[in-house]
Amino acid sequence: MDKVAVITGAGGVLCGIIAGELAAIGYKTALLDINESAVRGLADGLSKQGYTAKGYKADVLNKDGLSEVRERIKADFGVCDLLINGAGGNNPAATTDTEFYNGNGGIEARFRSEKTDKENGNSAFGEAVSGQGKASVTDGGSGGEKRGIEARLGQGKSDIKSENPVGGKRGGKEFVEVKGKTFFDLTESGVDFVFNLNFKGTFLTTQVFAGDMAARGRGSIINVSSMNAFTPLTKIPAYSAAKAAVSNFTEWLAVYFAPAGIRVNAIAPGFFVTNQNRALLFGADGKPTARSEKILRNTPMNRFGDPRELLGAVRFFADDAASGFVTGVILPIDGGFNAYSGV
Ligand SMILES: NC(=O)c1ccc[n+]([C@@H]2O[C@H](COP(=O)([O-])OP(=O)(O)OC[C@H]3O[C@@H](n4cnc5c(N)ncnc54)[C@H](O)[C@@H]3O)[C@@H](O)[C@H]2O)c1
Repeated sequence: MDKVAVITGAGGVLCGIIAGELAAIGYKTALLDINESAVRGLADGLSKQGYTAKGYKADVLNKDGLSEVRERIKADFGVCDLLINGAGGNNPAATTDTEFYNGNGGIEARFRSEKTDKENGNSAFGEAVSGQGKASVTDGGSGGEKRGIEARLGQGKSDIKSENPVGGKRGGKEFVEVKGKTFFDLTESGVDFVFNLNFKGTFLTTQVFAGDMAARGRGSIINVSSMNAFTPLTKIPAYSAAKAAVSNFTEWLAVYFAPAGIRVNAIAPGFFVTNQNRALLFGADGKPTARSEKILRNTPMNRFGDPRELLGAVRFFADDAASGFVTGVILPIDGGFNAYSGV
């Protein structure tokens, strides 16, 4: 194969695996990431396996820098045939600690729970209970909820601050009152960060790389959305909205570039077990944590995804022979999570 794939966020977990697969099936892979050492390391490993890969430092929010990198890629490999807009993520400053407004300034009582303390990696207690007679539900909430998980799974860990905590015992169980971030505590800069990285990063990178595709009259672009683009997860309003923007933009681009022979689709990953989140998903005994159980209850296939299960969709969207008439599709890869209402 004499095709060039450009993958942003290739220094990360999911896009690193995607990049490896594309290299293995013969693409010349340009691995872009703001984390230069990550992509250089990955490229070295792939090159040692006999594949064609090179790492490039690139910030998806720096259009001039992206344009320079595009020219280097052209000199190294040629014009981009396949663009994967994978750089993305959330930020704690745009993440609430509570799933619901509790009318109590975000203060809630949390029972001490050895398990959840360990999972949270902080000293705040883990299980929310009703605070001062007002409704307060967080991760320990009702079984039917499927929202509010992604923020804790590598997308921005909960950042509960104990401001002058008040503690005591209720029903024989020790508790402490903690002040969590509410919607009103989220910062403008946090929201900007998340929108810029996910949406504008996709927008600018596409502006930079799609021009050559359009000039040649062919190309495939795969954006990385999320299942929370369909229904927002609690706690992560900016990330959910930004991924909804990525899905919307995918459809816009698909229409716009149809006459240019460029197909534009997106994958919408659900919950995947990676080395980064394994300790959050499973206890030392190998059993799912409380949070994992909540996810699994709401995933009809009753398991997490393996990142390699994204690869078939990527290969499909990349391949004109397989998906030449497919454009503007946002494909959930989530074990049925998005389709399930919880009832
Ligand atoms: N992990 C999941 O469960 C999940 C679920 C749904 C969607 N996603 C999306 O999948 C994509 C990959 O996620 P991941 O879990 O592998 O995340 P990750 O954090 O492992 O990888 C993201 C990569 O993007 C890079 N990056 C950050 N800012 C950048 C910038 N300005 N310019 C260039 N690169 C930058 C990071 O350095 C990192 O290597 C993201 O778009 C994410 O939002 C992930």
